[in-house]
Amino acid sequence: TGMFTYDPGFLSTAATQSAITYIDGDKGELLYRGYPIEQLATQCDYLDTCYLLLKGELPNAPQRDEFHNLVIKHTMVNEQMQFFLRGFRRDAHPMAVLTGLVGALSAFYHDSTDINNPEHREIAAIRLIAKMPTLVAMAYKYGMGQPYMYPRNDLSYAGNFLRMMFGTPCEDYKVNPVIERAMDRIFILHADHEQNASTSTVRLCGSSGTNPFAAIAAGVACLWGPAHGGANEACLNMLEDIQRMGGVAKVGEFMEKVKDKNSGVKLMGFGHRVYKNYDPRAKLMQETCNEVLAELGLENDPLFKLAKQLEKIALEDDYFVQRKLYPNVDFYSGIVQRAIGIPVNLFTGIFALARTVGWIAQLNEMIGDPEYKIGRPRQLFTGSVRRDVQPLTKR
Ligand code: CMC
Repeated sequence: TGMFTYDPGFLSTAATQSAITYIDGDKGELLYRGYPIEQLATQCDYLDTCYLLLKGELPNAPQRDEFHNLVIKHTMVNEQMQFFLRGFRRDAHPMAVLTGLVGALSAFYHDSTDINNPEHREIAAIRLIAKMPTLVAMAYKYGMGQPYMYPRNDLSYAGNFLRMMFGTPCEDYKVNPVIERAMDRIFILHADHEQNASTSTVRLCGSSGTNPFAAIAAGVACLWGPAHGGANEACLNMLEDIQRMGGVAKVGEFMEKVKDKNSGVKLMGFGHRVYKNYDPRAKLMQETCNEVLAELGLENDPLFKLAKQLEKIALEDDYFVQRKLYPNVDFYSGIVQRAIGIPVNLFTGIFALARTVGWIAQLNEMIGDPEYKIGRPRQLFTGSVRRDVQPLTKR
């Protein structure tokens, strides 16, 4: 009953208006607030990008300093957080830990609980952007059994994150500018991507008026899945599997499996709901991949060679051509992160760190929209018609 449009997976329903991110999937174009991702990735840093996504304009020099100073005032997390973390098994998946930690932030800040209050949202936004690197690094250090590294505010956003990840109290950590730039680029490329599953989750969750930190925790939970943020992890696992099977020589055999619909095997890091052309982020990521591998003397990295071979074959194969399947951002980001030393199961956590600003910008936009209502999808009911409960002896 009911006259509702039936559109599973939202293939043709615009759930919202938005002025933040524009994707032209046919051209393979991505713009944040009108600026091409290629220009942002080469001329701006991640905090500039955060400012742009949140406020709609790139910062001028004083605005940039002010924003940076505001963010670094909030990089520490409450000391209680480490006791919360300690409740997890050391081998817990970092995304399970991160879902918990971000959700737990909602218990700490009594001055930023009201999602409908712009001041509350503003301070929650700064806290989240500032604390995500600290939380992701803590989740990593906890798994390693190493001491947490407190943030250092004289470093860049990416540099501070790298130090919290790879520094130890025994040794001063030297930030390598090539790696720092690569990390920052990974953050920029993942900062927003319009109404994907996790962003839509954050909007729907926030539309009930919940605590802002809780709404972002819902986004983290959604991002975890292998069809979304978990694809970079799945992609690297796939490359490692092929490598174990025999590497480049086995690519043809693997591709046959991918094309066999009964195998259930997909070429991870390929295909996208919106891009029916090369994902512009994948191009930038491939460039970064070359730079990082050269810097670290890993030009002959077998997984990179394997990835390039898979890409080459896929781009020429009818199966992929007909379906317009191209590499997406995750195809090369895993190789870069692995080279930097980030463990595979932390890739999605880094994606979550970077996407937090996009989630917040989209949440702010929704709440600022005079037409905003609680999200409440309808259904086409396919269950039983009305019937009566029978006594237990007659069922
Ligand atoms: N390998 C093999 N076949 C594929 C792939 C792939 N990676 N992606 C799509 N197809 C096939 C699919 O089987 C379907 O074939 P047919 O028309 O014969 O049934 C056709 O291409 C259309 O794909 P779809 O699954 O209907 O498209 P969708 O928009 O529902 O799914 C997707 C998009 C990203 C979930 C899917 O392409 C996929 O699972 N890719 C691998 C996972 C991945 O890399 N995800 C990262 C997305 S980008 C980062 C992010 O947004 O988080």
